[in-house]
Amino acid sequence: MNHLGHIRREDFCFEDGLVLLNHGSFGVATRGALEAQAEWRLRLERNPPNFFRHVFPKALNEARAALAAYLGAEAEDLGFIDNATAGVNAVLRSFPLAPGDEVLSTSLGYGAVRNAIRYACRRAGAHPVEVAIPFAGASADEIVARIAGRIGPRCKLLVIDHIASESALVFPLERIAALCRERGVRVLVDGAHGPGHAPFALNELGVDYYSGNGHKWLCTPKGTAFLWVRRERQSGVHPLVISHFLDQGFAAEFGWQGTRDPSNWLSMPDVLAWRAGLGEENVRHYCGQLTARAVGALEQAWGVRAATPPALRGFMATIPIPGEPPATRAFAEKLRQRLLDEDRLETQIIAVMGRLWIRITAFVYNAEEDYDRLAEALPRRLNLIANQP
Ligand SMILES: Cc1ncc(COP(=O)(O)O)c(C=O)c1O
Repeated sequence: MNHLGHIRREDFCFEDGLVLLNHGSFGVATRGALEAQAEWRLRLERNPPNFFRHVFPKALNEARAALAAYLGAEAEDLGFIDNATAGVNAVLRSFPLAPGDEVLSTSLGYGAVRNAIRYACRRAGAHPVEVAIPFAGASADEIVARIAGRIGPRCKLLVIDHIASESALVFPLERIAALCRERGVRVLVDGAHGPGHAPFALNELGVDYYSGNGHKWLCTPKGTAFLWVRRERQSGVHPLVISHFLDQGFAAEFGWQGTRDPSNWLSMPDVLAWRAGLGEENVRHYCGQLTARAVGALEQAWGVRAATPPALRGFMATIPIPGEPPATRAFAEKLRQRLLDEDRLETQIIAVMGRLWIRITAFVYNAEEDYDRLAEALPRRLNLIANQP
């Protein structure tokens, strides 16, 4: 696997010396993706009417087909959107909620998605219900049991992360989907972190709706995401922007959401070719091993235990910061900035459950020494901040 690690930094446009240990917040596009996007943009602007009439429909179909093949789905069941939040909103705003219905989600859900649930429920007179999942150390059995215990007779929809943002927990989606099918509850997956990270085939997950990002773990340009909808649910689902093709089918409606620059979506085949060149299995193996090794090294160096259980972990893990630093956003921000300015480590530090945590990521351009550097730098920065606030 000597083609993965720091050598892959050349595929990206990192600032000199920057060590990115926070792939999770925004992902990072490959250099090749940005070049492909720039080419599409030029092609468009050389003759925009001709591009949108003749070139775009075919190119969009090719991009969808490439993505569908990668995701184990059919191209007709996928629509491009700008981000995972947009897909979640499209489903929630299309969903036939009635007064008194319940929409279930979990305590680990993403803030923006919680707001979208609240908004949809408020408009329909429905109720958001949240099932508490432990932030640290939950097991798949416990998660499934807790969700089962909160599905009431009025529950119509479960909104569930594929991979939770703060705790980095990978939810056991197949088991959750099977449970919901038995209970007549539809499942909408917030897959912001799923594609290119967790192994899955959309046709086999058993969920109803999946909103996934390309711009995080697939390394596409920003604004590249998709919504997948099970065939029999598609007629009720509309994009956030209603345009010319209302009621002419899912693919047609999502295929034209008003004039926009689609160059990011069209770079998808190039990105997937880059990924295939690395080898999907190699990526999974390398990043999985690197995450495990990084967690082990940090746990040992700091005398702590990661929140993200090994059995439900991908290429991210959330680890307590040693000692008892103030668990505030202000302190988290100060520590994050010092690690960036002084140590060139870009990290994600969060204050949750009365503690300060760091969420690390391990991707194809990282190597073991990145985490050894963090293991040493973070306690040093904590001491320095404590001594000269
Ligand atoms: C779990 C989860 N859902 C949704 C989002 C939002 O993603 P986007 O801004 O691409 O819509 C994020 C972003 O980090 C996330 O972690």
